[in-house]
Amino acid sequence: MGWNSWNTFGSEVDEIVVRETAAAMMDTGLLDAGYRFVNIDDFWQAEARKDGRLIWDSEKFLSGIPRLAADLHGMGFSFGLYSCAGTHTCGGRPGSYGHEAEDAKAFAEWGVDFLKYDNCYLPPGLDGRLLFRRMGMSLLGCGRPILFSACEWGRSEPWLWAASVGASMWRISGDIDDRWDSIVENGFRLLADLAPYAGPGRWNDPDMLVVGMHGVGNDEVVDGTGCTDAEYRSQFALWCLASSPLFIGADIRNLDKKSLDLLSNTGAIAINQDVLGIPGRRIGIHEHGGENAEVWSRPLADGSIAVGLFNMGNQAGRRVSVAWESLGLDVGTSLRVRDVLDDIDLGLHHHEFTGFVDGHDVMLLQLRHEKNMN
Ligand code: GLA
Repeated sequence: MGWNSWNTFGSEVDEIVVRETAAAMMDTGLLDAGYRFVNIDDFWQAEARKDGRLIWDSEKFLSGIPRLAADLHGMGFSFGLYSCAGTHTCGGRPGSYGHEAEDAKAFAEWGVDFLKYDNCYLPPGLDGRLLFRRMGMSLLGCGRPILFSACEWGRSEPWLWAASVGASMWRISGDIDDRWDSIVENGFRLLADLAPYAGPGRWNDPDMLVVGMHGVGNDEVVDGTGCTDAEYRSQFALWCLASSPLFIGADIRNLDKKSLDLLSNTGAIAINQDVLGIPGRRIGIHEHGGENAEVWSRPLADGSIAVGLFNMGNQAGRRVSVAWESLGLDVGTSLRVRDVLDDIDLGLHHHEFTGFVDGHDVMLLQLRHEKNMN
């Protein structure tokens, strides 16, 4: 959980933005809610290596990366950087190809805790998996624990091999946009098939949260006015159900109240961070009038079950049901139902629960056996 600079700032990221964002994460309570990583994406590097060494852009990062990392650590954050398996990053800055071990050592010396590793400008004829392995092994040997985040966009099925080269998470898709179609493609479509490959220490990454962007940001991510509040709720609920990394991409200094409340929702975060780490599965698609509703569920460590009732269409107040039988439970079971996002007890239910869900919205539920209630 944390923040990444790309969605909003793109190539404009600098030290001031990073420091102001970290301060805002403290002030808003997002750090306390669990958003621990402050990650700088592409464009922190100088335009070229110096004497073979990767260096930061000293105009944008006046105090230097090690000082910035130390200050963030002092505030209670972990610190992330970005590099690329090819000769250049996707933004054309120097990549780590051929310099993997020395770059990993430099990251360790600077106090880096997280590395997002991208997939642009690979030398022709080389298997990208080998290059990710090189950096994974270099990080293991660099003398500091650095979380390895593989960003090869799902090209060579990283869910099959990225954990074996040391990655704790891997992108399953291309870049997300602040649009409903993009949430559907990166999230609902891909996660439905890939849930079985994730688990503790190995997570499917459908890319950053667009929650709270409202069409403002890096023009490679923003195309139009952005998503509705309902669509943001759906993205957040799905990423929580899927146990996927929660990286905020919005400008935290200017986050609207609804988005802040959503991102800080303790019940949803507890589902995302549940220690069993069993990613949610899609257990039902209901079609009505050409529009779908989807039901997702995951078991939680305390014996309760998280369920998402998603209205994928536009119809307002659509009925979406989850039957106990589809959850593998006896039809006669009595379950207490809680609306997690709105924090409301919806009472005791038998056989099934039916919610009324607006277009592109979600009802995120937690179902408990009565005996688990205190
Ligand atoms: C690629 C990645 C993005 C971002 C940019 C930076 O497109 O997929 O997430 O890191 O590169 O240039």
